Amino acid sequence: KRSIIIDTDPGQDDAIAIALAVASPDELEILGLSIVAGNVPLKRTVDNGLKVLELCGRPDIPVHAGADRPLLEALVTAEHVHGETGLNGVDLPDPAMPVADKHAVDFLIDTIMEHPEKSITICALGPLTNIAVALAREPRIGPRLDQIVLMGGAMAEGGNITPSAEFNIYVDPQAAALVFRSGIPLVVLPLDVTHKAPTTPERIARFAALDNRCGPAYAGLLDFAKRFDEEKYGSVGGPLHDPMTVAWLLRPDIFKGRHVNVEIETSSPLTRGMTVVDWWDVTDRLPNALFIREVDDEAFFDLLVSRFASLP
Ligand code: BDR
Ligand code: CA
Repeated sequence: KRSIIIDTDPGQDDAIAIALAVASPDELEILGLSIVAGNVPLKRTVDNGLKVLELCGRPDIPVHAGADRPLLEALVTAEHVHGETGLNGVDLPDPAMPVADKHAVDFLIDTIMEHPEKSITICALGPLTNIAVALAREPRIGPRLDQIVLMGGAMAEGGNITPSAEFNIYVDPQAAALVFRSGIPLVVLPLDVTHKAPTTPERIARFAALDNRCGPAYAGLLDFAKRFDEEKYGSVGGPLHDPMTVAWLLRPDIFKGRHVNVEIETSSPLTRGMTVVDWWDVTDRLPNALFIREVDDEAFFDLLVSRFASLP
């Protein structure tokens, strides 16, 4: 069984990733959430983390508030995709559980230092600010981590916030550069793979049909999240980014990628946050990431729906 920390900026798709982890207790133990500003400002992402854990019946999992802005850049948010609250699409009650006392960065450092070496995996679902600050403050955590499985980046797919950058990397490119150069084993789920599993109405209907409170609630979130792509691009369904990190931990066999070098552009205003992927091995740079580009999308949704059936 793996111990994980979910670093996140919920976000509908973050909420689904968290729920998938909660619904997989045989494989995953969630040590806590470390929350970062991203999709919406920190106050809301913290609130959303609490609400999602209460919805899933796990108010015992600690939620730690972290960075409220990137290392150097001004915060960019994504209400145009996620709505004003970040969890538009479902009306969840105000959380009863309190935010944990410790700052997310201290939580990351203390937890990783206290646990046995290589026993913790971070699932990173937002801008990488908390993780970068933790690494800068306590570099000994790097070699103690098993791996970081992160949603971020884009290679051939193009960007979703600028022509060349994906949102999570774009928001805090300096933090991303630090993480990608840390030497920690990385698994990267970029837009190239998340755009291959659209949330079609048929797929959302499978969540809505579940005989529990989470199924219909998550169907509402999925339904809202797909509107942006449907209205802007005329697609059927939208991408479901963040749950692919947790799905990779549960079913790596349904994904395909390559061990490659990935560098982050930090200086060009035009291509800020671009993930420069040496897919064809044309440089001397050493591989630093398993970069995923394919998924069996039917198996991915089967996994989600079957696990969500066990939620309250
Ligand atoms: C990423 O950005 C956010 O909008 C999503 O939650 C996901 O983590 C996709 O680019
Ligand atoms: Ca996210």
